[in-house]
Amino acid sequence: MTNCFDLSGRRAFVTGANTGIGQAIACALAAAGAEIIAVGRSSMAQTQAVIRPMGRSCEEVLVDLGDVGAAVAAFDAAWKVHGPIDILVNNAGIIRRRDAVDFTEEDWDAVLDLNLKTAFFLSQALARNAFAAERGGKIINIASLLSFQGGIRIPSYTASKSGLAGITRLLACEWAARGINVNAIAPGYIETSNTDQLRNDETRFAEISARIPAGRWGQPKDIGGAAVFLASDAGAYVHGIVLPVDGGWLAR
Ligand SMILES: NC(=O)c1ccc[n+]([C@@H]2O[C@H](COP(=O)([O-])OP(=O)(O)OC[C@H]3O[C@@H](n4cnc5c(N)ncnc54)[C@H](OP(=O)(O)O)[C@@H]3O)[C@@H](O)[C@H]2O)c1
Repeated sequence: MTNCFDLSGRRAFVTGANTGIGQAIACALAAAGAEIIAVGRSSMAQTQAVIRPMGRSCEEVLVDLGDVGAAVAAFDAAWKVHGPIDILVNNAGIIRRRDAVDFTEEDWDAVLDLNLKTAFFLSQALARNAFAAERGGKIINIASLLSFQGGIRIPSYTASKSGLAGITRLLACEWAARGINVNAIAPGYIETSNTDQLRNDETRFAEISARIPAGRWGQPKDIGGAAVFLASDAGAYVHGIVLPVDGGWLAR
């Protein structure tokens, strides 16, 4: 019997793969057999040091993903140089925290541009290349609990992650019959630099920790298995879902 989670021979373009959740997803996909294109604005050396000893390739692509034109150009160039891309993980994201009443246009635009606009146009780039090459593909968007909930003091982040859940469903409806699976993962509270400020606030840290049924914050590696599932044949009939990996937070 073949292993339906095997990603041998597949190529994955993972944004924000230098650290945190993106790095953990790149490593999990590589461990399942995928070749990795690690994309972001910082060195991918640490990620390469984990993946290359597995016998998988890990190419570095340096680009500011807040610039949508540069992001799409980087995707198209990677497809030409390295060959067809089977899996796109839209992981790179930022958060800006401030009361809604004081929120700035700069903090609105920066978050929406990276978290939503670039994710959409990279998805379009994968679809255009895949359709031209008569291939399928897998798109995995990294959503959030804020795809389901309102949150506080993070208006542009909530808008971006709620929007990302929406376009995940829209693109699934348009592309499912054309061989592209579009899905999202909604991580719960994970220990990365995205949540540094929350974990440094004793009251918020205690409130959040007490509400997580699993009794602990997540680690980046907790997200890897869900990404392998959605990227693999095991997830072939899964379209348009936002899969929480949250220690039970949303069940509460
Ligand atoms: N941590 C959580 O609890 C949590 C929960 C739900 C969803 N998420 C989502 O998970 C994703 C990854 O976040 P994380 O928690 O792993 O936080 P992180 O450690 O801060 O990682 C964010 C990643 O995005 C990259 N990035 C930011 N701005 C960029 C830009 N302009 N161009 C290229 N790359 C850029 C960062 O690169 P640099 O290192 O160079 O800045 C980094 O690789 C985000 O979409 C986040 O919203 C996180």
